[in-house]
Amino acid sequence: MRVLGIETSCDETGVALYCTERGLLAQALHSQVEMHRHYGGVVPELASRDHVRRLVPLVESTLADAGLALDDVDAIGVTEGPGLAGALLVGVAGAKAVGYALGKPVLGVHHLEGHLLSPLLGADPPAFPFVALLVSGGHTQLLEVEGLGRYRLLGDTVDDAAGEAFDKSAKLLELGYPGGPALSALAATWRGGETGFRLPRPKLKDPDLDFSFSGLKTAVLTAVRKGVGPDARAALAHEVEQAITDVLAGKALRALAATGHTRLVVSGGVSANRELRRKLAAAGAGVRAHFPALALCTDNGAMIAFAAALRLQAMARRGERVDPASRLDFDVRPRWALASLQPP
Ligand code: KG4
Ligand code: ZN
Repeated sequence: MRVLGIETSCDETGVALYCTERGLLAQALHSQVEMHRHYGGVVPELASRDHVRRLVPLVESTLADAGLALDDVDAIGVTEGPGLAGALLVGVAGAKAVGYALGKPVLGVHHLEGHLLSPLLGADPPAFPFVALLVSGGHTQLLEVEGLGRYRLLGDTVDDAAGEAFDKSAKLLELGYPGGPALSALAATWRGGETGFRLPRPKLKDPDLDFSFSGLKTAVLTAVRKGVGPDARAALAHEVEQAITDVLAGKALRALAATGHTRLVVSGGVSANRELRRKLAAAGAGVRAHFPALALCTDNGAMIAFAAALRLQAMARRGERVDPASRLDFDVRPRWALASLQPP
């Protein structure tokens, strides 16, 4: 089965073709980062308009790369939510149009389920059950994952997301948008030794599995106001990265201990962070951390095609016929809790 995946929930237009027998056949991505950089963040109306411009050419180039035609597509998976309403609408309308024209089923996919399952696209996929750490620009969640669509929320952020903490700290250091990769790159230039900064590790010692990152941003602001010389910038960036990744790694290991699971799956944009990867890879005996390929950490069409394929396969195994027409009757869901999903 060949599934065309479409992602337009935020500021990336992602398209991919996933085959249940041969794996990922082709993928294409257009990032709007350059367009939004000027405004210091994503402008929803501009995002929607750009998705309109990019979607069809990206579908065409993805099919061409795979050496396939639209007729070779068996189903379409599209991000239904959560995300920016106008941006989601572009992908969903496009997917429905293709599905209707071809008479093929269209499946709405939860964006975070796409992220969560993306490490399973690798060569050595983790088996269920596992604990998932979802860390993106909008979410910071720990989940117990028993199987496809069986997600129990263990912990969440009470304020800012981890990616937001990276982005806001980077903004205070005038590193531009999106800040995570830029802050991490600056931190990597730090020479070592005493940084002269000590930022809080919010909630790290608390027994619960929740996160809080807004205090960190305030602490960075205080440090910046005192004045950070050119040499100290890398030291402060290093301390920010250490503080965020200490908390993420610490809470993830606490979630493993609390549930008794040994496998940890980390996904979302912040899973690209090298310090987070290093800390979790070194977590010790009995714990194995799985990450997506670097190209699949941030938003992409491959994870959406893959999540749709897994769900359609499970339905087919149960003998459930997917009626193309009935599958067109869904709307976008800008707000949608991952733990509310059901198994296919
Ligand atoms: O998953 P994603 O592409 O979009 C959302 O669904 O939010 O995540 C984007 C977030 C941004 O906050 C970005 O700064 C962060 O992921 N990010 C990173 C790194 N790469 C992306 N944060 C820290 N280190 C990185 N290497
Ligand atoms: Zn995302």
